[in-house]
Amino acid sequence: MQEITKLLEEKRQAARMGGGQARIDRQHKKGKLTARERLEILFDPGTFEEWDMFVEHDCYDFGMEKQRVPGDGVVTGHGTVNGRTVFAFSQDFTVLGGSLSDAHARKICKIMDQAMKVGAPVIGLNDSGGARIQEGVGSLAGYAEVFQRNVLASGVIPQISMIMGPCAGGAVYSPAMTDFIFMVKDSSYMFVTGPDVVKTVTHEEISQEDLGGATAHTGKSGVADLAFENDVEALLYLRKFLEFLPSNNREKPPVMDTGDAPNRRDMSLDTLVPPNPAVPYDIRELILKITDNGDFFELQPNYAGNIIIGLARMEGQPVGIVANQPMVLAGCLDIESSRKAARFVRFCDAFNIPIVTLVDVPGFLPGSDQEHGGIIKHGAKLLFAYAEATVPKVTVITRKAYGGAYDVMSSKHLRGDVNYAWPTAEIAVMGPKGAVEIIFRSERDDPEKIEARTEDYRRKFANPFVAGAMGYIDDVIMPHDTRRQICRDLRMLRNKQLENPWKKHDNLPL
Ligand code: HXC
Repeated sequence: MQEITKLLEEKRQAARMGGGQARIDRQHKKGKLTARERLEILFDPGTFEEWDMFVEHDCYDFGMEKQRVPGDGVVTGHGTVNGRTVFAFSQDFTVLGGSLSDAHARKICKIMDQAMKVGAPVIGLNDSGGARIQEGVGSLAGYAEVFQRNVLASGVIPQISMIMGPCAGGAVYSPAMTDFIFMVKDSSYMFVTGPDVVKTVTHEEISQEDLGGATAHTGKSGVADLAFENDVEALLYLRKFLEFLPSNNREKPPVMDTGDAPNRRDMSLDTLVPPNPAVPYDIRELILKITDNGDFFELQPNYAGNIIIGLARMEGQPVGIVANQPMVLAGCLDIESSRKAARFVRFCDAFNIPIVTLVDVPGFLPGSDQEHGGIIKHGAKLLFAYAEATVPKVTVITRKAYGGAYDVMSSKHLRGDVNYAWPTAEIAVMGPKGAVEIIFRSERDDPEKIEARTEDYRRKFANPFVAGAMGYIDDVIMPHDTRRQICRDLRMLRNKQLENPWKKHDNLPL
């Protein structure tokens, strides 16, 4: 017995030391924490229960029998984050570069299976050189087993990937299928093929950072949702982010007392929209003024800035905010903004998070780039996402809601529960100038006539009353009352029941 206990302790110690002190020091020198240090920050103190600490690989090729470390390069288990159960795996770069072997993959699969059974989120802390090269197809099979579970868990439990080191080759596809990807600046990167292959195939010379670093993926590709300065900041934000989410798709997100009065009025909102419809304003100001304590967890802030997405609370209840941003491209919808918002709307719908949509949209961005890039299909994604969403949907049109974009942005016709307009709203098939140029083409050489026609059109259509008369707008509200109205509506909608027809799955325009 004593001998077993001693052996047990030795194995535990070996597992805790991972690839040894020298490699741990190297990890620290790169500004990175070890796999276990990361878990300590992520979980509530003392709650993390490690599983499979004694798992070892069973590879004998290339001298691998001499390179066995208990745990095999990944720490897995569960604990609580903000008091709720969460499962996690944390790849240990000090053990064979955190590379994924068959045994390593089985450990990840085990916690994913358990998380599905109990309905708890899975967090992946990724720091890996990819497939364990010595194992070959065993490791590829391991990836595929993880991918399969990612797909089955999608929409059932939240899955979040934190990229904290290398993530390359096919390994990128597991994070890609999770709900959110967060990255750490300067120490993480993701790419399907690295700089060397890129150079060989295309002769392009590009650094690892420029190709797949956090800045590239949060600004250019939109693959990642947020970038953080370092491991500690990333993990603390991840804890905060989890506070907004339910543990699974059968739960509602946790309501919290935020201490912010739901009836709070903000008179400054009455002058937010400038008198000249061509002048932009910052929709973020509206978001910050109507949400609880202005605590807005924005996602993808550096990508497709013409639409803003993120999570906040209203009367303590988590909500997803989607808002056109007039400061960028006049707030129009284009390929990137449509994709960005569509995925977020679908996430909120999958996890019972009500959606508050703030509309100031002049239409879709015109141009051959957009048409040839497939704006028809991409715009349809957002339309599809709103139309299929059954969560509570509250919409406020602050200014422009023109054309197809009016329909798309959570309109009444897409089962918007409560649709408001501010007195400054202009809801029409297009802006007055464009409309007059088409209807009165024969008068286009007479600027005076055109001006009078435009004014006439503006008076008739550039207001909320035509839509109001048809019942497409439930009420015209004063801007200062926006928070109060939305909070009331979300309370009224708390037990909303709505189901889509049975189907195997939909056929989203991909
Ligand atoms: C086995 C690996 C490994 C791997 C790294 N190591 N990657 N061992 N399989 N994939 C080991 C190294 O031998 C080294 O061991 C230790 O991890 C640290 O690696 P270094 O190279 O010293 O670290 P660094 O300089 O930081 O470079 C990190 C790296 C590099 C850029 C990730 O290691 C690298 O290029 N690795 C190979 C990447 C790769 O080609 N992976 C396969 C991709 S294909 P010692 O003992 O010296 O500490 C793939 C397919 C998946 O993943 C398909 C799924 C469908």
